[in-house]
Amino acid sequence: MSKTFFITTAIDYTNGAPHIGHAYEKVLADAIARHQRLLGRDVFFLTGVDQHGQKVQQSAQKLGIEPAAFVEDITSRFIALWEKLDISYDAWAATTGDIHKHCVQGILQRLWNEGKIYKAAQSGHYSVRQEQFLTEKERGPDGTFGEEWGEVVEIQEENYFFKLAENRDWLLALIDKRSQEGRSMVLPEFRTAELRNAVEKISGDLCISRPKSRLTWGIELPFDPDFVTYVWFDALSNYISFAGYDATPGADLSIFHTRWPALHVIGKDILAPPHGIYWTIMLHALGFADDDIPNFLVHGWWNIAGAKMSKSLGNSVDPSALADHYGTAALRYYLLTDINTGRDADFSTDRLEQRYNAELANSLGNLLNRSLSMAKRYRESRLRRMDSPLAALAGEKTAAYDTAMNTYQVQTALEHVMDFVTRCNAYVEETAPWKLAKDPSQSDKLDEVLYTLAESLRIVSILMSPILPKESAAIRSQLQWTGPATMGNTAWGLLPDGHELGNPVPLFPRIEAPAE
Ligand code: MSP
Repeated sequence: MSKTFFITTAIDYTNGAPHIGHAYEKVLADAIARHQRLLGRDVFFLTGVDQHGQKVQQSAQKLGIEPAAFVEDITSRFIALWEKLDISYDAWAATTGDIHKHCVQGILQRLWNEGKIYKAAQSGHYSVRQEQFLTEKERGPDGTFGEEWGEVVEIQEENYFFKLAENRDWLLALIDKRSQEGRSMVLPEFRTAELRNAVEKISGDLCISRPKSRLTWGIELPFDPDFVTYVWFDALSNYISFAGYDATPGADLSIFHTRWPALHVIGKDILAPPHGIYWTIMLHALGFADDDIPNFLVHGWWNIAGAKMSKSLGNSVDPSALADHYGTAALRYYLLTDINTGRDADFSTDRLEQRYNAELANSLGNLLNRSLSMAKRYRESRLRRMDSPLAALAGEKTAAYDTAMNTYQVQTALEHVMDFVTRCNAYVEETAPWKLAKDPSQSDKLDEVLYTLAESLRIVSILMSPILPKESAAIRSQLQWTGPATMGNTAWGLLPDGHELGNPVPLFPRIEAPAE
């Protein structure tokens, strides 16, 4: 029995509504998780919400409600969205949960006991409006802090710090070792250099607390009730707290060890420092072995007309409204085909419509429809099991798809599937079954064509199932093939002799442009 495939996404901030960037990451992780299930692996897919912090406290205050009520509302929107988008997560990480709180406090206590956390005075420029310390990065070219920070004052404050800097060389060595062994800590590999550079620049330690006078909406430090832990210790720990980890001495970690380490799917903005530096060093400090330090799959960003999506620009795209308008299939397909894993892309509803119409409605939808219609018209939907000229190509494309999916290049995987679909449509044109049907001497050839098309569609439906779970199942149901969708069942020739196909039902209706 192989070890569980454990995959996580970033947990989404609950200080605002979900946007297309959140949706992309979940759909990407979902496709990967579903492919691993096709391979027969036991999958543990964890996603959730990051509910604590300054921004939530401020937003709730403005509305005159409790932070708990505020995050409950936003959290429910995320949950509804993941249901609408068919995200097949196995566990839900909501950081206000008791299990999480217990785990985070256990971690903090342990690191405190071991002297890996210490208290120190911090002084510097502090933005009253944003309630945070500012660094040199926030200074403009003229040396002043921008207007967005409001009043900036110099203050001194005591806080708790986690020892980062002393682990710098350990981390550099680990990153290099993984690269040498050909299992880069960061995928795509080009981002490893980015992480390595950031690690080389580690100079100080990490402030992990906020005094309660400033922030109450967080997890209290177990060794000092006047403080809560701030941002990353709380957020990052979700990956282990919801997977069965417990830092208390003597705790039973047997379930946790069947899962860990995870593959963390995250956006490029939170690789360095949060995941690549804070998280790896936290795990090392907790005594995790080098082999148990996770890898990261880092995706790029969806921009809008070349610009970053942002609340202030008001250009955020609402994935829920898009799914209502175009359907979940169109949205999932677009998000997985119009971006290369790791790179940025521009979000465009025109592209979404074009790709859906060309690839799903015209190419795949049409292949399904014409194949079933012809089988019905010429053979009363009954197949004869025949050898096929496309069997070898199906095998090649399936193997190429599998390789791409195993390296998380979902768009490349889909290109292989759609190439095959295009080939099948060309095969229909070349063989012209409507002519074969008129010529009794071509009867075997007609059976070969019909079998080839049905069998191709069966295989395509399995390969497509991580991307379009519902529509893939619908294809199999029209084919009346009831076998399980597994990679093993992509072998050619599983439709038996005499198999009866179902009736054609249009699956991907064209998106029509609204009348001018
Ligand atoms: N809460 C932190 C992550 C903590 S993980 C322990 C956070 N939340 S977030 O809501 O801002 O972002 C969640 C994920 O969405 C991140 O991986 C981020 O990179 C991703 N995206 C945010 N905007 C995005 C786009 N415009 N495009 C693609 N992904 C983007 O960071």
